[in-house]
Amino acid sequence: MASNTPIPSDASAAVLKPSEPMPDFAVSVEGPNFEEEMSLQKLLESYKRIGFQANSLGQAIDIVNKMRKWRLSDEPVAADESDEFLAPEVRAKTKCNIFLGYTSNLISSGLREIILYLVKHKHVSAIVTTAGGIEEDFIKCLGKTYLADFNMDGADLRRRGMNRIGNLIVPNDNYCKFEDWLMPILDTMLAEQKESGQVWTPSSFIRRLGKEIDDEESVYYWAYKNDIPVFCPALTDGSLGDMIYFHSFKNPGLIVDIVQDIRNLNELSRKSRKAGMIILGGGVCKHQIANAMLIRNGADYSVYINTGQEFDGSDSGARPDEAVSWGKIRAGSESVKVYADATLVFPLLVAATFAQPNSQQ
Ligand SMILES: NC(=O)c1ccc[n+]([C@@H]2O[C@H](COP(=O)([O-])OP(=O)(O)OC[C@H]3O[C@@H](n4cnc5c(N)ncnc54)[C@H](O)[C@@H]3O)[C@@H](O)[C@H]2O)c1
Repeated sequence: MASNTPIPSDASAAVLKPSEPMPDFAVSVEGPNFEEEMSLQKLLESYKRIGFQANSLGQAIDIVNKMRKWRLSDEPVAADESDEFLAPEVRAKTKCNIFLGYTSNLISSGLREIILYLVKHKHVSAIVTTAGGIEEDFIKCLGKTYLADFNMDGADLRRRGMNRIGNLIVPNDNYCKFEDWLMPILDTMLAEQKESGQVWTPSSFIRRLGKEIDDEESVYYWAYKNDIPVFCPALTDGSLGDMIYFHSFKNPGLIVDIVQDIRNLNELSRKSRKAGMIILGGGVCKHQIANAMLIRNGADYSVYINTGQEFDGSDSGARPDEAVSWGKIRAGSESVKVYADATLVFPLLVAATFAQPNSQQ
């Protein structure tokens, strides 16, 4: 039965509240159209209009491409410019230094090959990672890491001499091979230290191992070849620490000095005319790069990819804006955090940036 009762005006005013007009720059949401031919590049281009984390990935792609494109010659010569940077040829060649950070597990994953590509082609200026991110690269040259399952039983794996990293498995034999490879190198490094009086730093230690492995499948072989410094302030927190511990009984005296390395990293940051951060995961690799950026009053471009959340106050979960408050990212500079597993997102980011044949070096 029809009713003539009027709609309550307060309810309709609440539900049908008129909108202000959208600004001219507003972009509408739209997904990729698979009715059309779809290249990987076109698909990634469409991410910018999908929304949520797809948007953030689209933004990360733009920021990384800006890091790659920037040259000092893009900027006017400052009144107080140092003589070193006055010549137009020098300005045209002076690039943004890109600082790449990643957690250990990512070297265990297939992101290792992507990181190797970036280092081999000199796309990054410096690396910061944790101990597992160093040793797992060398260990992979000595034995394979295998795909497995998150649900494998820990006690059963222990009985079988298998170690689990998420859904990957590393046979314990790989670590035995690592010990056989590393111990004589540590002996030689200690002898050199005693002879020259020069102590090692985490970065010179990693550089030496990169030289010794002499294998094009190693990230740190290419870092050695291309003179890209690799910083690892907590070098002992992994199998490398176990080996250094054993070695200290057998042949004591090796010194690894973190003071020289913090100076090397911070000076590289301070002297960068433009600095960009690409940080996969959190913890030491994230904060050590951000902290180095403080020395130059903040990064100019920042891309974080991680699963950390900020409600617990962790640095791992902190958004770029928290780093702005500390002076680790410049206020007003371009930054984004992509909330995602880096193994999903980083291959796409690299495909749309560094791996582009015609993109800037
Ligand atoms: N394979 C290994 O993971 C391994 C091996 C040997 C030693 N270790 C040691 O364990 C310690 C802790 O490792 P860490 O500092 O490298 O990082 P971590 O594994 O503790 O991760 C730190 C944070 O990074 C984020 N994260 C990690 N993996 C991610 C991913 N795939 N995608 C997005 N975000 C991710 C998470 O927020 C996480 O809480 C280090 O000292 C390291 O040397 C780790």
